[in-house]
Amino acid sequence: EKLVLGFDVGGTKIGVGLGSSEGRILGKARIENVDTYPEDVLPQMVAEAKKLVAGAGLTMAGIAAFGISAPFPADPANGIMTAPTNNRHWRNVPILQYLRDGLGLPGCFENDANCGALAEWFFGAGRGCKDFIYLTMSTGIGGGIIAANHLVRGGRALSAGELGHICVELNGRQCNCGLKGCYEAYAGGRALAQRMQEELRNKPDSMIMQLVDGNVGAIDMVPLEKAVRAGDPYAVALWDEMSLRNAQAFGMFINMFNPERLVLGTLAWAVGDLYTDPIRKYLPQFCWKEPMEACEIVSSELRRDIGYYAGVAAALNYLKEQDEKKR
Ligand code: BGC
Ligand code: NA
Ligand code: ZN
Repeated sequence: EKLVLGFDVGGTKIGVGLGSSEGRILGKARIENVDTYPEDVLPQMVAEAKKLVAGAGLTMAGIAAFGISAPFPADPANGIMTAPTNNRHWRNVPILQYLRDGLGLPGCFENDANCGALAEWFFGAGRGCKDFIYLTMSTGIGGGIIAANHLVRGGRALSAGELGHICVELNGRQCNCGLKGCYEAYAGGRALAQRMQEELRNKPDSMIMQLVDGNVGAIDMVPLEKAVRAGDPYAVALWDEMSLRNAQAFGMFINMFNPERLVLGTLAWAVGDLYTDPIRKYLPQFCWKEPMEACEIVSSELRRDIGYYAGVAAALNYLKEQDEKKR
């Protein structure tokens, strides 16, 4: 059993996990990451990791590697977080080198949704699949593609699987990535929150505004879901539009890859059938029947723990790839 450390650098928090090749998580820590500066957070990451290792009665010599799970845009070949859209003070941060030096371990840097796919593949809803796609439906939308038993990374930019940034509407809504009409701009948590905040700002009587006591900044997916369940017409219409966009995107992924499964993270498992039922309803409009029927749409199994498994899975995959290179 190999032991590894994993770091999941999210827009609001960083998960640090100590895990094993058997899928055990031996220790977890969380670092708040809202509006932070890397010079404050990087030393905390090293310190928390060292604490976890010591807390498990181990030394660094017992750890094989670490993995970093982070959103793109980034320079994955060099392990640099170039311009994460949700951390405005993080620009060109050489996080991989920093952690290598700080921990004295070999490590790797991988896209967060790719890490989610690896984690579900090794320990969750992707077990035993040869072809499947993991989609994280959170602040942003990310994808991790496993095709013919391999993680698809693509060419020089290593950016294959940026499924949130495929265009679903010509001259459509502005995306944080700079493009217009991205899928994420219609179904990503942050994009939907921003949209609701703009549209409801001057509508104090709307159900969603009432649910947040008039605090516009508090509008996000949580009051939206409540308002949908209560039958509020604005919320129901927005949800329907989101579902249609989800189906449009899923249809493309299904026609493109004929995956055995689409494994959905975050929002999908948190919300449940209300999230997936309308997608299933619209899906036949967007893809062929055969691959549609051959594809199961399921929730992440690792759920809330994915943030600890993500970096751990990246590290385990890194060790596996190193082994394969040697052979
Ligand atoms: C980023 C992806 C990431 C996803 C989830 C997107 O905005 O472009 O790289 O996987 O958000 O964090
Ligand atoms: Na990806
Ligand atoms: Zn985009």
